[in-house]
Amino acid sequence: MPTLVNPAASNPISGPILGIESSCDETAAAVLDADGGVLAEALLSQQREHAPFGGVVPEIAARTHLAHLPSLVQDVTARAGITLRDLAAVAATAGPGLIGGLIVGSQFAKGIAIAHRLPFVAVNHLEAHALTARLPELAGDAAAVAFPYLLLLVSGGHSQCVAVDGVGRYRRLGTTVDDAAGEAFDKVGKLLGLGWPGGPALERLAAGGDPRRYSFPRPMLGREGCDFSFSGLKTAAAQAVARLPQGALPAQTAADLAAGFQAAVTDVLANRVTHAMRMMRGTASLLVAAGGVAANQAIRAALERVASAEGFRLLAPPARLCTDNAVMVAWAGLERLRLGLVDGIDFAPRPRWPLDSLTPQGTA
Ligand code: KG4
Ligand code: ZN
Repeated sequence: MPTLVNPAASNPISGPILGIESSCDETAAAVLDADGGVLAEALLSQQREHAPFGGVVPEIAARTHLAHLPSLVQDVTARAGITLRDLAAVAATAGPGLIGGLIVGSQFAKGIAIAHRLPFVAVNHLEAHALTARLPELAGDAAAVAFPYLLLLVSGGHSQCVAVDGVGRYRRLGTTVDDAAGEAFDKVGKLLGLGWPGGPALERLAAGGDPRRYSFPRPMLGREGCDFSFSGLKTAAAQAVARLPQGALPAQTAADLAAGFQAAVTDVLANRVTHAMRMMRGTASLLVAAGGVAANQAIRAALERVASAEGFRLLAPPARLCTDNAVMVAWAGLERLRLGLVDGIDFAPRPRWPLDSLTPQGTA
């Protein structure tokens, strides 16, 4: 069912909005007021459930979302001082992601929408990351983060440079040709015995390492455009580990490997984003970083440097809003609702749902 443009809903929003996130391994709910102020947010990571398997197990994820969502929603509505009856709308991530979790979250949201006769907004998870920077608590006022801007989205499943022209209007400038940046962090983290997910632990380990001791390749560096490649880096890390004497890695060696790997990823991201900024020069002057990998301080510092060298301002949300959360889902729901974009209750979740397919009919 296509997105419905509901003229009645393009009026100012009359009350708070509930957002639900369940596309991967975070179960999250949030309530925002009609202006986008965060009234309450809650998140349960499923890290403990999936860690023994070294990655997300889709069936376990779906069951865990189902077990936790009712109490999370109860918790955020209570802390926001509202009941479901007070809501103006309900939004849920409907893709892309793991189909089981998407079904759980969106069916839950639809149930609330039906019971309380509310508009339902099916949110694209990538759009939620893309619009987070416009949240009033970050932007001050959405007008301060005006379209168009450049988005670097680097998460466990995605690495993309995207021109954000408006709500629902995206042009992908570049993407990974193999692994996502977060996936590379996770795989190298596993090699270094850091457990899963590897990103945050690898960053901590790298802080005590020498990035020059092991030199890693910089895939795509200097290449035209802004595509990425990370799988060669993972192979290089595996080879470096294989060359070492068998047995547990000495702590300093592990730290040096982590620092070398992180420096390579940082250089690659900085270079590809520099190209992307040049592709948008004259039309945009804001670089927004989003996704879990954008929580990495070394990467943020490098982005800050290249942004200012290209005459761009960097806006990188705090870590809690870079990694998956429901505030971004509620906010994307609000942005769509303001434009009168609501969805039918028969909207089917989409495990694959590219950003550039979102442009609403008649608004391109
Ligand atoms: O956006 P996100 O929470 O979920 C997805 O949509 O994928 O991103 C999770 C990814 C994981 O691969 C994780 O290892 C990585 O982001 N990550 C980090 C850091 N924090 C999370 N990577 C590098 N440094 C970090 N501090
Ligand atoms: Zn995400």
